[in-house]
Amino acid sequence: MPIIIAIDGPSASGKGTIARKLAAHLGFAYLDTGLLYRATGMAVLRTGGDPSDPVLAERAARALDAAGLIQGDVDALRSDEAGVAASKVAAVPAVRAALLKFQQDFCAHPPAGAAGAVLDGRDIGTVIAPHAQVKIFVTASAEARAERRFRELQNRGLATTYDAVLADMKARDARDAERAAAPTKPAADAVLLDTTDLNAERALAAAIRIVEEQRDGD
Ligand code: DC
Repeated sequence: MPIIIAIDGPSASGKGTIARKLAAHLGFAYLDTGLLYRATGMAVLRTGGDPSDPVLAERAARALDAAGLIQGDVDALRSDEAGVAASKVAAVPAVRAALLKFQQDFCAHPPAGAAGAVLDGRDIGTVIAPHAQVKIFVTASAEARAERRFRELQNRGLATTYDAVLADMKARDARDAERAAAPTKPAADAVLLDTTDLNAERALAAAIRIVEEQRDGD
């Protein structure tokens, strides 16, 4: 059985970077599950539809070529527009159901015969892989996350203010945490990793320590 590591947490908590580097460190496959929701949201927008429309959102999720998506160029999906559309389709239960099988297959058969897989998202430890050997819930204060996102947007030359980014972050957090379908919350057996005062290097080191401790405990 492949070893599964579930990394959940809110946006800009650092979970994506931690998950990607952890997978490289362990030689495991890596899946950024947010991309599935982002691609679904953008597919609805491209047809001129509203990503909150459950019928359109479900149709887009069912039509998604997830395997092709994660092998392709996903840069366009990192935009804020895609993030907002993703948080809307992600609240539709039929969308989550349509994307479940791909994620569970990835866990059961990690690509390239890898011995394990690291998945990052919001419901990996609670819904997708409740039997994951290691579960980490990555958090940081809303202010620290907004500061990171603000600097990232500035570096990309996008005009915005810290206050606007913080307000957007809080609105998206609320949508993710309060939705009825798989809200963002730590699994009962997840280890919390607060990155408010950690840089990327220290956050990765803390995650590696958690993995070693959890696997030794099995
Ligand atoms: O992690 P991210 O910013 O790429 O996620 C984009 C949106 O998709 C976010 O609003 C939450 C949602 N999402 C989700 O509901 N479940 C996941 N496993 C991954 C992302």
